[in-house]
Amino acid sequence: MDSDTPQSDVQTQILDPLARIQQELDEARRALEEGQKLATVGTIAAVIAHEFNNLLTPIASYCQMGLRSIDAGKLDDPIIRKALDKGLKHAQRAGKISGALLNLVRGHADEDAVSVQTLVEETLSVLARDPQRDGIALRVQVKPDLQIKGDAIQLEQVLLNLLINARQALIGDGSGRGGSITIRADRAADDEDRIRISIADTGPGIAPEHLERIFDPFFTTKTASKPGEPKGTGLGLHICRQIIDRHGGAIRVESTPPRGTTFNILLPAA
Ligand SMILES: Nc1ncnc2c1ncn2[C@@H]1O[C@H](COP(=O)(O)OP(=O)(O)OP(=O)(O)O)[C@@H](O)[C@H]1O
Ligand SMILES: [Mg+2]
Repeated sequence: MDSDTPQSDVQTQILDPLARIQQELDEARRALEEGQKLATVGTIAAVIAHEFNNLLTPIASYCQMGLRSIDAGKLDDPIIRKALDKGLKHAQRAGKISGALLNLVRGHADEDAVSVQTLVEETLSVLARDPQRDGIALRVQVKPDLQIKGDAIQLEQVLLNLLINARQALIGDGSGRGGSITIRADRAADDEDRIRISIADTGPGIAPEHLERIFDPFFTTKTASKPGEPKGTGLGLHICRQIIDRHGGAIRVESTPPRGTTFNILLPAA
């Protein structure tokens, strides 16, 4: 810079543009922060929609069941009572889940002693459709008296997502050969203070190049090939991992295509 550059030139040629750049930078940073906030809100909204879908599907099928009974003129049919009862229970659970999701966002989880047996039973009751009707054999091998330290509703969300994935893997491979889902729970072999829950299916398995990405938000291989077929959002496993992390646990996957997939969850015992 010339030593005889007048002060006003320094101002107009250097300092003013610098101030403008600084101002633009500040605005860009604010926009970025706002964008990140919105992206988080978007993900939370997608997560809530995802978990509600898991619950609304059975509510809708129970309503249909009841309506069919009424249409057939059987007003005192026990099916109607069952449909209303199940619909109500699922709706109440939807309310609890929204509370659990808000807690998750706030980073809070209840810390109760949760019975693993109850957890598995409650989760299976949310799956409205009996797996056997789709040719799937369901095995449950849960040791009695196992207790986990955690939030029952959030842990049910994890099991529900894993069971839905297992069922979709078995139905979606198109072979029509059925298969089996096995739920096991025991104390971890190498650590008495941890409980291990596993969900294994005999579906087509997960390709090795996908294994690293399945827990990423929005990663899915479920694209609808026919209209009306369910598409994935790729949020199920992401939610599972968030919940298990918050509980100080771990979730891992083993898969050997085409022989099946096992998800293992380790959680602190109560
Ligand atoms: N049991 C399984 N067998 C085979 N592949 C699986 C299994 N579980 C998960 N995957 C793979 O992992 C991907 C991600 O699973 P995730 O549950 O996060 O999303 P999604 O099931 O595709 O969609 P969403 O759960 O949002 O409906 C799936 O698209 C699928 O490719
Ligand atoms: Mg899923």
